[in-house]
Amino acid sequence: AKRAALSSALLDWYDRNGRDLPWRVRGAHPNPYMVWIAEIMLQQTTVKTVIPYFYRFMDKFPDIQSLANADIEDVLLMWQGLGYYTRARKLHECAKYLTDNCGGRFPETYSELLKLPGIGPYTAASISSLAFDKREAVVDGNVIRVISRLYGIQESTAVSLPDIQKKAQELMSEKRAADYTSAIMDLGATVCTPKNPICGDCPFGTDCVARALGLIDEIPKIEKL
Ligand code: ADE
Repeated sequence: AKRAALSSALLDWYDRNGRDLPWRVRGAHPNPYMVWIAEIMLQQTTVKTVIPYFYRFMDKFPDIQSLANADIEDVLLMWQGLGYYTRARKLHECAKYLTDNCGGRFPETYSELLKLPGIGPYTAASISSLAFDKREAVVDGNVIRVISRLYGIQESTAVSLPDIQKKAQELMSEKRAADYTSAIMDLGATVCTPKNPICGDCPFGTDCVARALGLIDEIPKIEKL
């Protein structure tokens, strides 16, 4: 099938099977602050663990200003148990930076987001797509797995990452960028799982090269970024 047919099948699947998560808003875009906090928490921590932390954090620091004005000690307290405390320090630093340099608001484009402290390619793409509906493909472990299986990319991730990145960007739908990003993450987390993927439920069906060639267990070779 053509790229447009694949991405629209993925969006249809998402409309029926997407997860309801606290940092998503059905029928609307979440604000960039919510997306940012969630994505930073999710970098080294599972969805299940993050959920209660996310609620507590948003309750205590509901926006950029409240985070920027907080004492770092209070921010670290809200992070207690999540580990990787540099993440919390960077969040605080970035909130202050936004307040001092960006009028207290997030920029919308990938390239401007990338200039912010603690925001790398993954977080910049997720904020611009999920909050601002920009067509910027996110590439994390889930996306690497989905894309390399779909296209049958058999080299190790280290070798093929630029190719995966390019294909992920090309596959992304022209419309509904935010939903598309959520959709590919959900597909990787619930159907195209590392072990025992549920290929029968996959919106890509028999267009998946790894499935057609019986290479599901071989692909991807390494998925860590
Ligand atoms: N993992 C990383 N980011 C995520 C998100 N926004 N939703 C679900 N799982 C994720």
